[in-house]
Amino acid sequence: MATTYLFRAPAIALVVLLSRLAPASAQVPQPAPEGARPGCRDRCGNISIPYPFGIGAGCYRDDGLAGFELRCDDTRSPPLLSIYGGGYNHQLTSLSLAAGEATAYHNASRQCFNDTGGFVNGNSVYTSLGTSPYLFSPAKNRLVALGCPNLGYFVDGAGYYVSGCMSVCRPSQYTIPGECTGVGCCQSEIPTGLNLFEPHQYNFPMGQGDEIFSADRTACHYVLLVGTEWIGLSYSNRAYANRTSDFAVPVVLDWAVRNVGNCSAAKRNMTDYACRSVNSTCVNSTNGAGYRCNCSEGYEGNPYLKLARLIFLCSRFSYFFGSNDDIATAL
Ligand SMILES: *[C@@H]1O[C@H](CO)[C@@H](O)[C@H](O)[C@H]1NC(C)=O
Ligand SMILES: *[C@@H]1O[C@H](CO)[C@@H](O)[C@H](O)[C@H]1NC(C)=O
Ligand SMILES: *[C@@H]1O[C@H](CO)[C@@H](O)[C@H](O)[C@H]1NC(C)=O
Ligand SMILES: *[C@@H]1O[C@H](CO)[C@@H](O)[C@H](O)[C@H]1NC(C)=O
Ligand SMILES: *[C@@H]1O[C@H](CO)[C@@H](O)[C@H](O)[C@H]1NC(C)=O
Ligand SMILES: *[C@@H]1O[C@H](CO)[C@@H](O)[C@H](O)[C@H]1NC(C)=O
Ligand SMILES: *[C@@H]1O[C@H](CO)[C@@H](O)[C@H](O)[C@H]1NC(C)=O
Ligand SMILES: *[C@@H]1O[C@H](CO)[C@@H](O)[C@H](O)[C@H]1NC(C)=O
Ligand SMILES: *[C@@H]1O[C@H](CO)[C@@H](O)[C@H](O)[C@H]1NC(C)=O
Repeated sequence: MATTYLFRAPAIALVVLLSRLAPASAQVPQPAPEGARPGCRDRCGNISIPYPFGIGAGCYRDDGLAGFELRCDDTRSPPLLSIYGGGYNHQLTSLSLAAGEATAYHNASRQCFNDTGGFVNGNSVYTSLGTSPYLFSPAKNRLVALGCPNLGYFVDGAGYYVSGCMSVCRPSQYTIPGECTGVGCCQSEIPTGLNLFEPHQYNFPMGQGDEIFSADRTACHYVLLVGTEWIGLSYSNRAYANRTSDFAVPVVLDWAVRNVGNCSAAKRNMTDYACRSVNSTCVNSTNGAGYRCNCSEGYEGNPYLKLARLIFLCSRFSYFFGSNDDIATAL
């Protein structure tokens, strides 16, 4: 497939470029599809850090909204990537330019009770994303309440209810099929534009109200905001039914350039406009204000970089990098 394209004009330019990059040997490195600014760190452990994200001065997009600046703690094993600035501190485990997503980790909130229903201990994990580029993804996250009986919910900054669900137990000999469908675990959808998660759990006092809500109580119950993938892959009613310890879960964040409201507003200031590659297009954010950049159809790379590091720009180069053999043929 690679050779088919070699007769096109841009391909000639590429071959010249490649021979400059890799003078003496055919050992051309496989380029990452997205890159950092030149001179900037492009990985933390095995997580790649594409611009507009970056570590250190001049390496990230600095538009007044903290959040594109990251830090990497190499003393941890594996190295720990987190959002720097703005006091966010959230640990990140993935970043994607094409999907406009990042994955962060936070702990579930827990409440535990003794045999007579007295509160023993717990924790409440409040997560704020402030005015950063990040918002919780409504498509890829759910509010989940675990343990029973439990009414798990969360409120907005003004303290008003946003979303929640009710988890009730059934005697273990009467299990019903399905994971997290309301028995011992429930889930609910969340709205767009959400930058705050303040979890609450309503504890049903023992021996009060309808008996169906009190049978087969679990010692602890939890409420969490978590990626749908975790619910499908990592969660099982069996594994979480009698849990009593803390645990961390992945939550999917939608990021965008949010210092202006949309593409039309952004294009009015070309100095600030984030879509730098000539072969890129602007896409309005579908979760909250702002925009992101896409490489044009048929191009791949980093639309946020401009003539900085040619191999990372939106380009057709990926067609030529099928394998090192293809490149050797080209050279
Ligand atoms: C990165 O490393 C972590 C821990 O070492 C591992 O669980 C994960 O699968 C790795 N991810 C990729 C994309 O290689
Ligand atoms: C932007 O690119 C992504 C990933 O390639 C694609 O899923 C999405 O449809 C594109 N959006 C637009 C508006 O072209
Ligand atoms: C359960 O907790 C309550 C309140 O914390 C306490 O008063 C009670 O003595 C405890 N009961 C048992 C059996 O530990
Ligand atoms: C949870 O604990 C209860 C009480 O000890 C037990 O009856 C039940 O089988 C346990 N459930 C699972 C899934 O382990
Ligand atoms: C979060 O959960 C981990 C276990 O996954 C635990 O070691 C840690 O202490 C918890 N942190 C907080 C603040 O509760
Ligand atoms: C686009 O963004 C600008 C500035 O951020 C804002 O004034 C305008 O109302 C937005 N347009 C729409 C239709 O949302
Ligand atoms: C983005 O939104 C603005 C305001 O609603 C609209 O005028 C513009 O056409 C949209 N641009 C794209 C690329 O969707
Ligand atoms: C355009 O963006 C630049 C860089 O962010 C900023 O310094 C400048 O004030 C902006 N101009 C206008 C007219 O908003
Ligand atoms: C990509 O950019 C080049 C140079 O500006 C231009 O000639 C070409 O038409 C662009 N391709 C697309 C699909 O926009």
